[in-house]
Amino acid sequence: MRTVYVNGVYLPENQAQISIFDRGFLFADAVYEVTAVLGGKLLDFEAHMARLKRSMRELDMTLPYADEDLLAIHKALVEKNDLEEGLVYLQLTRGAADRDFDFSEMTGEPGIVLFTQAKPLIASTLAQRGQKIILADDLRWGRSDIKTVQLLYSSLMKTRAKKAGADDVWLCRDGKITEGSSNNAYIVTENNEIITRELSNDILHGITRSAVLKVAKLHQMKVIERAFTIEELKSAKEAFSTSASGFVNPVVDVDGLAIGDGVPGAVSSTLREAYLTESRRTAI
Ligand code: PDD
Repeated sequence: MRTVYVNGVYLPENQAQISIFDRGFLFADAVYEVTAVLGGKLLDFEAHMARLKRSMRELDMTLPYADEDLLAIHKALVEKNDLEEGLVYLQLTRGAADRDFDFSEMTGEPGIVLFTQAKPLIASTLAQRGQKIILADDLRWGRSDIKTVQLLYSSLMKTRAKKAGADDVWLCRDGKITEGSSNNAYIVTENNEIITRELSNDILHGITRSAVLKVAKLHQMKVIERAFTIEELKSAKEAFSTSASGFVNPVVDVDGLAIGDGVPGAVSSTLREAYLTESRRTAI
């Protein structure tokens, strides 16, 4: 049984409790981060905490923890759960109050929950065989740059993708891809240019995205940050997604149509290896 962390206390997962009045539960009034663990070490930790603080600022929430405290909790959970490979999930909610749309009178501190998930991230079947994706309209709210737990639409669409025999869904707005259900989206053109949507309120500012783009530039690969169309995706040489849980994950099929040769491409594979080398080097 896992040891989890809830509001200052480490305890077995079946003893962890939060209030039924928690606004994360009632209003999805909560933000989160997911940090990968490889070899018992955290990947891109500072960047995840910087984004957490940005998400909270955007929602007028204050973080009552220093980065060192959050790092200590992450590390303690990794240790207590003997986590070699997997994820640490962190959620901060505005806290508990009698149900009211207006939270301006709230005085309590945010609630915090962390738990680990052991998962094989390196030897992932999806990375080896490549993902099949389907496309769906992006009907999420207009602030997808804030990492809130308001994930119902993405969750519904991902489930629909699975039921249709695919692995994931990429979302589209005005004929252009925004991002995946829980990852950023890329194509590689015939000229080996890597194209991914520019940062805006329409997408999550992925930590893996930022690290992968840096690595791509270090390897003299050409990166263009702009939205790409469904047609561009379908005629791309390669496509892939990035996230803390999938790293760089090739896409080989879109709506039943093979991308490139229908197998993971060279650029995606090179980037996956280069990203993993760099993030293992800087893991803490
Ligand atoms: N998801 N876009 C969305 C909508 C996401 O939910 C995620 C991450 C990303 C990639 O961000 P990052 O590289 O920082 O992980 C992009 C996490 C993994 C999740 O919800 O489980």
